[in-house]
Amino acid sequence: FARQALRSAVPKAAAPRFFSSSAANNRAVAVLGASGGIGQPLSLLLKQNPLVSDLRLYDVRLAPGVAADISHVNTPSTTTGYQADQLGEALKDVEVIVIPAGVPRKPGMTRDDLFNTNASIVRDLAKKAAEVAPKAHILVISNPVNSTVPIVAEVFKKAGVYDPKKLYGVTTLDVTRASTFLSGISGKQPSETIVPVVGGHSGVTIVPLLSQANGGDAVAKGEQYEKLVHRIQFGGDEVVKAKDGAGSATLSMAYAAAVFSDALLKALNGEKGIKECAYVESPLYKDQGATFFASPITLGKDGVEEIHSVGKVSAEEEKLLEAAIPELAKNIKKGVDWYAASP
Ligand code: NAD
Ligand code: LMR
Repeated sequence: FARQALRSAVPKAAAPRFFSSSAANNRAVAVLGASGGIGQPLSLLLKQNPLVSDLRLYDVRLAPGVAADISHVNTPSTTTGYQADQLGEALKDVEVIVIPAGVPRKPGMTRDDLFNTNASIVRDLAKKAAEVAPKAHILVISNPVNSTVPIVAEVFKKAGVYDPKKLYGVTTLDVTRASTFLSGISGKQPSETIVPVVGGHSGVTIVPLLSQANGGDAVAKGEQYEKLVHRIQFGGDEVVKAKDGAGSATLSMAYAAAVFSDALLKALNGEKGIKECAYVESPLYKDQGATFFASPITLGKDGVEEIHSVGKVSAEEEKLLEAAIPELAKNIKKGVDWYAASP
């Protein structure tokens, strides 16, 4: 009964993609940074996902408490908390690792200002993952995503276990925001307003392709178009400002990560035609230094099955891409160079 009540409390627009109906092939999923602002609601949402059978919650603090709490939710999966030096145990044999560990922004900061703290947190978690769960799919949320994802790739390369098909920067929040903001203007249902968002995950590297969205013609160009693009690119700042020093987006991010995790789990279980935007190693703009790039990808049993091009873009979007790519290339190089020099 409790589960039914929870399900019906989920808005209809959010529900269809979110909850899978088949519990055929269950999976072990770990959340690293599980006690944080994102980690706690994300863990709760994963506990509600019938495709997760074994939920491992790791954090440097409080994870056993968070796990004890979530474990009382009467869904079939088990929930176990791990902290401090129990990372290896937490990761043993897991198939999907979601990483929201790290510090969030305060007003006046860019995501890149988080680099000095979060780069080493992500590197160390990735090192253990490469050692204990080298075949796992890694979903990186920790900012700056444009740089932390290449760092994970370097760690896995050094360990000789890198599979680019299994590493994703989670950019679903940009897609979620674009859908919400555009549907607010077009009047169409958010669930019917899917906006591909390509590039990276910070400021001008976030490139919404409104020309490809249902309802995008409502804001084809002009001031309203520019305002909407700006709001999608800087939606994170809106939340940072409103939280006034208490952090950045956590609840909408947990939702977005749960959506992406569910899509991946469905694909791993053999469901066909699962397409999401994500920041992955990509050939699309490699020649311009953007060796990682977010674009629509088809997910399959082994992870990234196909990377789709950005498709037909408008003149405005072409300009947005021109601004995004050099910045993205710089962010990627920063991560790779930092790792090469790191102990
Ligand atoms: P938070 O401070 O509330 O939580 C972070 C958690 O990470 C804390 O519980 C902390 O103890 C834990 N942690 C720190 N170092 C750790 C380590 N070495 N191992 C395990 N856990 C560790 O922060 P938050 O609001 O949850 O945000 C987390 C990160 O996610 C930030 O970097 C933020 O910028 C990023 N973020 C990304 C997106 C995105 O779209 N990709 C969206 C929102 C936030
Ligand atoms: C977001 O887009 O909300 C996150 O990347 C957090 C932030 O720092 O804005």
